[in-house]
Amino acid sequence: MKDKILQYLKDHQNDYVSGEMLSEQFGVTRASIWKVMKALREEGYVIDSVSSKGYRLQSSVGVMNQEELEKLCRDNALWQTVYYFNQLSSTNDYAKEISASSDQQAALVVADVQTKGRGRLGREWSSPSKTGLWMSLLIKPRFDPSHAAKLTQLAALGVSLAIEKMTGLKNQIKWPNDIHINDKKVCGILTEMNAELGSIHYLIIGIGINVNTPGFDETLSDTATSLMLELGEEVDRRALLDAVIKEIEGLYLRFEKTLDLAFIQEELVKRSSIIGHTVRIQHMHEIVEANAVDIDQEGNLIVLKDGVPIKVFYGEVHRIRKVN
Ligand code: BTN
Repeated sequence: MKDKILQYLKDHQNDYVSGEMLSEQFGVTRASIWKVMKALREEGYVIDSVSSKGYRLQSSVGVMNQEELEKLCRDNALWQTVYYFNQLSSTNDYAKEISASSDQQAALVVADVQTKGRGRLGREWSSPSKTGLWMSLLIKPRFDPSHAAKLTQLAALGVSLAIEKMTGLKNQIKWPNDIHINDKKVCGILTEMNAELGSIHYLIIGIGINVNTPGFDETLSDTATSLMLELGEEVDRRALLDAVIKEIEGLYLRFEKTLDLAFIQEELVKRSSIIGHTVRIQHMHEIVEANAVDIDQEGNLIVLKDGVPIKVFYGEVHRIRKVN
């Protein structure tokens, strides 16, 4: 009934509709109508009520629920199917569960809160309620698994562009998969894959963005930030979600044609927080200090160690100082 009443309000968005009329139309009591309005307001809908006139839907901006997200993704080329939850253990874990279904070629999973959000290297990812974007993009690409790591770079650029376009905030990509603003992390990406030699069963790009987080505890406050903290005002999570998916989708469709990152290489280098710096990085089994000089067409980081170029495929990078 809630959905039907919401639709009715949307169809009459410029008018007030009386509680009496709604209760007759839907065959329920006025008290039930009042409860529905309360529930809708809790979801984020702004509903004006005037005692002599009734209810009027003022705004749906920023509301995250199954219906609104489906509407948002209807015209996407790839990520049209959406699974929205108030709460999940982890959107990546849910995406893994649904990946078993053979007709599920691409899907978006979103949760308002994650109880077991996961970060890279087995770390926990703090995912408090309604303050961030906790989402996973499931895809079953036809290309060889050796290309998969490039998708993290692609997603990082998509998020970086979406944040900048929506908020105007300059941000940087910390290779391979973090987004930083003013040297603090605002987004992390966890790409997971299930594959065998020559074929990918599924790939999941898990994205966590601190959007309206009001503050961080002392363990994180020196290293983490949110868009709201940087901007000084709240950011519409739904609009950001839309922008992120559309950016990543656009990049992915171009990437599929060539399977290399030549078309975004310059942008990745320009937005990198580590190129031009001496970094500490794990290479093979040792920790090395080297100068980060480039990102190649495969998305690998190129560092110079004693003048010798080394290709780094993956790893934790710590920035030490700017190269003079
Ligand atoms: C990292 O920086 O360590 C990666 C963090 C990735 C967090 C996101 S939130 C949505 C998705 N679900 C998870 O459990 N993790 C990713």
